[in-house]
Amino acid sequence: MRSWAVLTMAAALTAGGASLQAQPASPPAQGSGVANPAIWPERHYPVPVSAADEAKIADLLRRMTLEEKIGQLVQADLCCVTPADVKTYNLGSVLNGGNSGPYGNDLAPAADWLKLADEFYAASIDTSDGGVGIPVVWGTDAVHGHSNIIGATLFPHNIGLGAMRDPELIERIGAVTATEIRVTGQEWTFAPTVAVPQDFRWGRAYEGYSSNPELVASYTGAMVRGLQGPPDGARILPRGKVIASTKHFLGDGGTANGVDQGDAQISEEELRDIHGAPYGPAIEEGVGTVMASFSSWQGVKMTGNQSLLTGVLKDRMNFGGFVVSDWNAHGQVEGCTNASCPQALLAGIDLYMAPDTWKPIYESLLAQAKAGQIPMSRIDDAVTRLLRVKLRLGLFETGKPSSRDLSGHYELLGSAEHRAVAREAVRKSLVLLKNQGVLPLKPGGRLLVAGDGADDIARQSGGWTLTWQGTGIDNSHFPGATSLWAGLREAVTSAGGSAELSPGGSFTTKPDAAIVIFGEKPYAEFQGDRASLQLDPELTAPFETMRKLKAQGIPVVAVMITGRPLYVNPALNLADAFVVTWLPGTEGGGLADVLVGKPDGTPRFDFQGKLPADWPRTANMADGVLHPFGFGLNYASPRAAWTPLAEDAGNAAAGDARTFLASGVPASSWSLHIVDPSLPGSQTRITTFPAEALGGRAKVSIEEGLVQEGGRRFRISGGTSAVSLGTFDPIDISRETNGDVMLLVTLKMLKAPQQAGFAMISGTDTLVVSPVTMPQGTKFVRYGLSLKCLREKGVDMSNVATPFILSTEGAADFVLTDVRLGTDAEVVLPCG
Ligand code: BGC
Ligand code: BGC
Repeated sequence: MRSWAVLTMAAALTAGGASLQAQPASPPAQGSGVANPAIWPERHYPVPVSAADEAKIADLLRRMTLEEKIGQLVQADLCCVTPADVKTYNLGSVLNGGNSGPYGNDLAPAADWLKLADEFYAASIDTSDGGVGIPVVWGTDAVHGHSNIIGATLFPHNIGLGAMRDPELIERIGAVTATEIRVTGQEWTFAPTVAVPQDFRWGRAYEGYSSNPELVASYTGAMVRGLQGPPDGARILPRGKVIASTKHFLGDGGTANGVDQGDAQISEEELRDIHGAPYGPAIEEGVGTVMASFSSWQGVKMTGNQSLLTGVLKDRMNFGGFVVSDWNAHGQVEGCTNASCPQALLAGIDLYMAPDTWKPIYESLLAQAKAGQIPMSRIDDAVTRLLRVKLRLGLFETGKPSSRDLSGHYELLGSAEHRAVAREAVRKSLVLLKNQGVLPLKPGGRLLVAGDGADDIARQSGGWTLTWQGTGIDNSHFPGATSLWAGLREAVTSAGGSAELSPGGSFTTKPDAAIVIFGEKPYAEFQGDRASLQLDPELTAPFETMRKLKAQGIPVVAVMITGRPLYVNPALNLADAFVVTWLPGTEGGGLADVLVGKPDGTPRFDFQGKLPADWPRTANMADGVLHPFGFGLNYASPRAAWTPLAEDAGNAAAGDARTFLASGVPASSWSLHIVDPSLPGSQTRITTFPAEALGGRAKVSIEEGLVQEGGRRFRISGGTSAVSLGTFDPIDISRETNGDVMLLVTLKMLKAPQQAGFAMISGTDTLVVSPVTMPQGTKFVRYGLSLKCLREKGVDMSNVATPFILSTEGAADFVLTDVRLGTDAEVVLPCG
């Protein structure tokens, strides 16, 4: 094996690359990825621009050096930028990505966010070096409330809000979110997501309100108004508001097979009528920014699509704000790298989100501008758009962040008034799929609450919650929040009843009724992509709990935490009532408001949620719909006898496309091998147990893992060996390298070998990370190997047939349970 065999990167940036192309005179060819703006609706951008502001912009443009202008076009992430950098490079913007927070602490207290906001602001307006000093703007993913901040009010994710059918409440949610953002000093949220997901295998589907374009369009204007205030030309910051960003333009919810950052292979009419629909109302509400999508349309990356960014969005729809690109998305444009991409600016991007690549992007843009590869007019236009938004915010006269209204009023984060709005949203978003009369529950009785999701606020909040994936946090990170269980207990005990929490469903005294809370675990972006529409098999254990409770004659209410409609027919059959709670956020009390009635048996609140998308009959949408968009029962619905649903997931691949080995079992199309690389022909595929390999040097058996029989024990008496997982159908994991995704390997090292190493095979190359230290012990440890780190070595990971090889030298004894991609490592291994 070669060490760090690095594939040559064809980083050929076509000289001069793009040039501003004139709009084609005749309509572009269908399927070419070039849009015809003439077929798109014209829109009106209502924000008035005063003559005084325009004069100020003209004056600034005259005084700014080229370096200062280029700096404005670049946005850096907190991970990788200091206030001093902001001053030196005149950076236009900073952001905190899902995994970054002030001073290297993603879970930093609110006061740190404000303090750092002051530091960035002060650096940006410092003119001691002779610059003009343009105030920086800080963007954050406040996508379901101010969701990076401990103690903030977290609303249901958008899919739940879609179930409410309540634009007026959407506007109030936007207003609360704006207020909480302003407490910690940020001025801009990368929200709302106005995706119109068409395939719920997509891991971001829950970030969209609905699969229905009219419903999404009915929300976007309201959310933008709630966040920004009305588009009347008044300054935004003095009003206690922030700037919004509709994303991701365009077609993010339309990619083939629901693949994140994939390709929308659809006609221009579908692109316009389904995915384009929500942008109209946002533009007419004066949305300040639009984020371009990572994804492609007809094979062309949106971040490089001039016909859509400039032709449609800016020219035809008259969008008057600025366009920001997504996290290093410029690097995916044809002919571009993370370090250089004039094509994006030429296509219509005004601000590069270059989190860790801001310096090379700054330097390459500067060089390209100097060389005349980018016309000055495009640079001035982009800077003008940024300055208009900064003026509209009031950044030039509102002073440092901590001096602004609302700043530092930490009592507003998660205030009772704000939480009441979120609780109302939880109540209104619940969708009732079945009720054989058990609901509403009478509060006076004995209630058992079971299921692994009952008392887990992180679980009910989903991805984009404190951390990027919403993982690695527990109830202690949510001061003031209410888990679903805590809300139920409160409702029942305050009415004189009793409530018991028992995740496994055991009890001492037989309850009158049981609620079993189960469902998805948090994920964000591509981590959540699934091969089919079924709940991951390892999350279905609560079905067994339901079965046991039913067998004892206890009425069961199933409550499902989920970002999407999934095949769960066994639970629908088992339970006497079934409620979808989506990803409700921090105000779990909203569930009890509707489930627990008055002592006389009448409801306190009725169900009002309706499905925001079709619910599938099997795990495969092609098999048809169980309940259509708009379905939802309430307490007045006539009760019919239950016709059992077929418990057949259909012909659909199970599980997560990024799980290679789960509880000792290789995922379909993967196989587990052992080989001595120095002995040709020694490779053995491990299928039955116990097994012997390498001429008796290796013994493999089934052991206790994290679950019963979930471990595969390898006892190796000596020599060289390599345990691996392989497939004949190589996978492309290059986009996973663009985030904090790791190869996660869970094992217990009963006897550590003399030397151990990991390797991965991509294309014809073998990448070795060796030696790695995995100390001997009796506990399972989840080791992580950073894919980003491998990418930085120049490795192309688009063609991986063997993502996992564990090689050992000398006698060893270990139990392997799981191998997958993910973010929640317990021990991160240095990648060399
Ligand atoms: C996501 C965006 C997000 C950005 C900043 C990207 O990976 O696609 O939705 O706003 O990161 O965190
Ligand atoms: C996400 C960021 C996140 C980062 C983690 C990106 O793909 O969009 O928000 O913080 O990965 O490295």
